[in-house]
Amino acid sequence: MEQRHVAAIAALERACFSDPWTDAAIASELDNPLSLWLVAISDDTVCGYIGSQTCGEESDMMNLAVAPAYRRQGVAEQLVSALARELRKQGSRSLTLEVRESNAPARELYQKLGFVQTGRRPNYYFHPQEAALILRKELVECENFSH
Ligand SMILES: CC(C)(COP(=O)(O)OP(=O)(O)OC[C@H]1O[C@@H](n2cnc3c(N)ncnc32)[C@H](O)[C@@H]1OP(=O)(O)O)[C@@H](O)C(=O)NCCC(=O)NCCS
Repeated sequence: MEQRHVAAIAALERACFSDPWTDAAIASELDNPLSLWLVAISDDTVCGYIGSQTCGEESDMMNLAVAPAYRRQGVAEQLVSALARELRKQGSRSLTLEVRESNAPARELYQKLGFVQTGRRPNYYFHPQEAALILRKELVECENFSH
């Protein structure tokens, strides 16, 4: 991610989430040495993005979205795989994330990529209130990613 991608990412956040990150919050990730964000570009358009933060050998995936017109084409799969590979290269050993319990597309994606449920946090999300499932992938296995 570079500064020139921030506005498009913020627009996608607003389109995809009820509690979106602001432009300023996304831009501040560029100055955070713990953060790694990647964008998927098609014809100069930001069609998806993924954001993470790493503490020691543990990484947390905070954001993932693909623009509706680009869905079901493998973009999210490539973003997660590319992030996992890069984090592994940087010395991280695990990738954890939270997902809404009702988010069937995202849960299918993470299951396909080998994430396993390690916990459940009731009332984690608002607008609407809902539980989060905590999923985790050991990055030592990330050579198995197909992309
Ligand atoms: C979830 C999301 C990121 C998936 O992006 P995508 O680029 O369409 O996903 P991919 O094309 O890479 O799909 C990979 C796999 O995920 C699963 N999947 C993706 N969308 C799905 C859907 N609508 N229904 C069921 N499974 C789905 C499938 O297993 C798919 O593999 P397949 O195409 O071989 O069946 C996208 O739907 C999105 O941006 N949703 C709104 C934001 C969001 O929920 N983000 C996740 C927050 S945790």
